[in-house]
Amino acid sequence: MKFFLDTASLREIEEAASWGVLAGVTTNPTLYAREGGSLAEFHGHIKRICDVCDGPVSAETVGLRRDEIVREGEDLAAIAPNVVVKVPVMPEGLAATKTLAAKGIDVNMTLCFTVPQALMAARAGARYVSPFIGRFDDISEDGLEHLGNMVTAISNYDFGHPVEVIAASIRHNGHVVEAALMGADIATVPFAVLEKLVKHPLTDRGLEAFLADWEKVKNA
Ligand code: G3P
Repeated sequence: MKFFLDTASLREIEEAASWGVLAGVTTNPTLYAREGGSLAEFHGHIKRICDVCDGPVSAETVGLRRDEIVREGEDLAAIAPNVVVKVPVMPEGLAATKTLAAKGIDVNMTLCFTVPQALMAARAGARYVSPFIGRFDDISEDGLEHLGNMVTAISNYDFGHPVEVIAASIRHNGHVVEAALMGADIATVPFAVLEKLVKHPLTDRGLEAFLADWEKVKNA
C-alpha cells in the first residue's frame, strides 16, 4: 500500500517527502482553507505542491454542473503533469469524469460511501476511487467494513483502465492497518497520523537500550 498525505500544508508535504515515503498528496477545499489559502493563490499553491511531490496530487473541483467541473478540471490539469482532478461522486461528477478521462486527464472520484458509487466512478473512467472511512465512524457506522466492500467490488472487475482505491478520511493507525490488510492500494493520511504510524513504544525502548549499551562499549 502506498502512502499519500491528506493535506495542503507545504511544510508537512516537504517533511513527508524527505522521509522517502510520500507517494502522492490529496487536497480538498477544507484543507486548503485550513492553510489560509485564497482563491487567487489556489493554482500557485497546487503548483508548489507538485514541485515537492512528483507523485499524483489531487486538486478538487467545486463546480456542481458538468461543464463547470470539466472547465475547472482542465485548468487544474494544466498546472502540472502530476495533477489529478478530484471530483465528487454525483451524476454531474460522473459525466464530467467521463469527459475528463476521455481527454486523458486522471480523475480521483471522492466522497464515495457505497459499492455502487465506487463501481460507477470506476466505470465512468476514474483512475482513483476514494472511499471515506472516518465519516462513517462519525455516524456510528463501521467505515472499515464499507471500505472492505468497495475494495472487493473494485477488484472483482476489469474496467479497461487501471483503478486504484484510496482509503480516505483516515483518523488513526487502526484505519491504516486494516486498509492495508484489505488490499486498499493507497491510504491518504493526515500528517499527524503519518507521524504516529512510524512510531512504536518498543522501537523507542529498543533504541534507548542500544544507546545505553553503546555507551558501555565506548567506555570499555
Ligand atoms: O481527502 C479527504 C478526506 O480524507 C477527508 O477526511 O477527516 O475530513 O473526513 P475527513
